[in-house]
Order: sequence, then structure tokens, then C-alpha cells
Amino acid sequence: MDKLLIQGGVPLKGEVRISGAKNAALPIMCAALLSAAPLRLTNVPHLRDVTTLLNLLGGMGVAVSLDEKLGLELDAGRLNSPFAPYDLVKTMRASILVLGPLLARCGEARVSLPGGCAIGQRPVDLHIKGLQAMGADIHVEHGYIIARAKRLKGARICSDLVTVTGTENLMMAACLAEGTTVIENAAREPEVVDLAACLMAMGANIEGAGSDMISIHGVSALSGAKHRIMPDRIETGTFLVAAAATGGAVRLRDTNPRILEAVVDKLREAGAQITAEEDAILLQMDGPPVSVNFRTAPYPAFPTDMQAQFMALDCIASGTAMLTETIFENRFMHALELQRLGANIEISGNTAVVKGVSRLDGATVMATDLRASASLVIAGLVARGETVVERIYHLDRGYECIEEKLSQLGARIKRIH
Ligand code: UD1
Repeated sequence: MDKLLIQGGVPLKGEVRISGAKNAALPIMCAALLSAAPLRLTNVPHLRDVTTLLNLLGGMGVAVSLDEKLGLELDAGRLNSPFAPYDLVKTMRASILVLGPLLARCGEARVSLPGGCAIGQRPVDLHIKGLQAMGADIHVEHGYIIARAKRLKGARICSDLVTVTGTENLMMAACLAEGTTVIENAAREPEVVDLAACLMAMGANIEGAGSDMISIHGVSALSGAKHRIMPDRIETGTFLVAAAATGGAVRLRDTNPRILEAVVDKLREAGAQITAEEDAILLQMDGPPVSVNFRTAPYPAFPTDMQAQFMALDCIASGTAMLTETIFENRFMHALELQRLGANIEISGNTAVVKGVSRLDGATVMATDLRASASLVIAGLVARGETVVERIYHLDRGYECIEEKLSQLGARIKRIH
């Protein structure tokens, strides 16, 4: 199993390119299932989750091709098997995003229940309830969601909780439903907006994406389209925090500072100087960070996917920070590992109190999930001496060439096979 070896203490300096967003690419690739004509995508990140989804789509009869510019073409013209097997779904929860499109296009779907995951229960009941409200007949048999519907019907769906992939699944299904679907309490994440933009390029009729009420007027078929995946705001935020924690100065290009405001505000509070350009963002950190309190919540508030990285920053900040996680019930697994590097963290329920320490010391730590891994890498970049981050397959799910990009910024980091 691969590990990362980090010699800490080098301020990150220089420029790197931000990749396409994982959380936009995955739903948008699933949108290809809605049409018999090819969907051409650019800026698709090279990640393990993307490969997993390509395998899943390939197994359903979707033709996949890569062009010379690394553009991805997905052609679901010969979609023949609306089936998502456990072996693939268990490695990636986002596989549930095939459910809505398959049901809408094929009138049936058999998708494995994702099951548990390291950061909490993460049920899919709201996806199922929404599709049932649209007339689907759904039951669970031998661990599989079995869904059928002749043609889905528009409905008014009010979700109890804000769910990102739930909103995306229902929005995709509603594109081919008969009549209008209204999703209330919809997720407002930029990735939902990017998916809506792609669906509209395919001929869907969607209003309100980016607000908490999305209306989808169903059409009988969608066409092919070309779409460029938006930049990854979590990768951007992760590199910004890494630069701030090491007292560095970086320029991140091919990104969008306007979708990162809650994170940028907190970095400014921590003492970073940040300049936003049209499609780049610059950070300079002079002096040690100041502790920042925050609370995770759905967009546009502070993202849960940045909580672990900010905890690493708070570990070496001056002062005491209080972090509250409101989205997932078990998302502080990195705290125990950070403590192995000398951090002072106390967890009580969904709150972590982090007392800043003057330095961290390198040690061997183990990654437990994707963003937890990123926080351990950041801590390793700051710590004195050598840090070994084990189980980095989590990182490969969501960060494109992380060690190469960090090396470009001067970090002493290498992958050991
Ligand atoms: C997406 C993101 C993930 C991010 C999360 C929250 C993708 C591929 N993944 O995950 O990176 O951390 O949003 O921003 O985009 N819930 C239910 N029932 C449901 C669905 C969700 O109870 O049917 C709960 C979840 O357990 C969680 C909360 O709702 O407590 C929000 O989860 P959700 O927004 O659905 O997360 P994902 O879409 O899985």
C-alpha cells in the first residue's frame, strides 16, 4: 500500500494548477446516462473515484473514450444494463448518483445500497423518498435498491435535510419526467449549479439551480452536449490551507475564488493575505496563524469537506479554536492522528476544541478518509522531522497528483510504493 513520506518545515511557494472538481465530475458523468447521444467533458480530474465511475458506467454499456486532449466522451446510446453492483458501489458512495438517471432513462434500476462509511451513517433515504414521490416503485432486496417506473411524474419534493447528491439525483431524474418537479430545500452547492448547466446544455429545462428551490420542467429526451467541469473548490481550499499553515506564498490558477468565500474569510481571519483574480487566487502568510472558530453547514456556509484541513491549521495557531461539525456525525477521526503529531485537541460530541501548540513533531499517521488524509498531509508539511502518512489510497480518490503539486511548491514529499 502506498505511503507518503514528508519532511516538514518548508514554506510552500510558487504556483500550481487546480484540477476539475471531483464532486462536479461524478454527477455530470452520470448525466451521460440520460441521453442516447454522446456527452463530451473536459477538465475531468484524473482520480480513482472517476476511474471507479468509468468502470461502473462501462459495465452498463456506456462507451467511454478519451481524446488526445484528455477530453472524455461518454456515449450511453447502447446502455443495456441498468445495474450498479455492490463491488463498485461499496468503494464509492457517489455511485448512488446513477439511480435517478437510470430510472428516468430505462424505467428500471438495480443499484447496491452504499452501506456504511468512515465518516458516518450517510443513508440514502431522501434519494429514495424523492423518486417515490415522482411515482417510482422502490424496494430493497438483498442489499439492492430495486426501482421501477414507466415514466416518472413531476412532483413537489421537500427534503428534510439539505443533501447534495440527493438534490443531484432528483434533478437528473426530473429532467425526463412528465411535467414539472420542484425540489424545495435543495442543495445550493456550486457543483449542483455545474450539473444543471451541463443538463441544460443537453436540452433540460431547469430553473433556480444555486437557490434552495429548483424547478425542472421534464422533456421527452435529452441530446448530447459539450461541458467543461468547474474547478475543484476543495482542492483549492486544501492548497490554500497548506500554504497558510507552512507560512508560504502561493498562486493557484484555473480556479474560481467566488465559490470559496467562507473558506477565504476564515483564512483571512487566521492572518492570511488573499488576493482574488478572475481565475486564480493568491495567498501570502506572514507570521504564525491565529486560531479560527467555525461551524460546518451546507453551502454557502463553511464546507464540511474543509473541516479536517482547517483543524490542522488550528493545531499550530495561536489561541484556542472551537470547531463544530453539523453535517456528518463521525468526522473527527483525524483528531486522534493529529494528536500523535503533538496536537492538543479535545472532542465532545460534534465539537472539537483545539488549543494551538508551538510546533508539531513528525510521526507515522494513518489516513481514515479523503479529507482526513489531506489534514494529515498539511500537518506533516508543518511538523518538525519526518511524517509518514499511511493508507493514502483515500487521497488518490479525490486529489489529482497531490505529491507532485506539493513538490512543485517546494514541499519535500515523496510517495513510497
Ligand atoms: C456530498 C459530497 C461530499 C460532502 C457532502 C456534504 C459528493 C460526491 N459528495 O456528499 O464530499 O462532504 O456532500 O457537503 O458530492 N442524508 C440523509 N439521507 C439522505 C441523504 C443524506 O440523512 O438520503 C444526510 C447525510 O447523512 C448527511 C447530510 O444528510 O448527514 C448531508 O449529506 P449529503 O449532502 O447527502 O452528502 P453527500 O451528497 O453524500
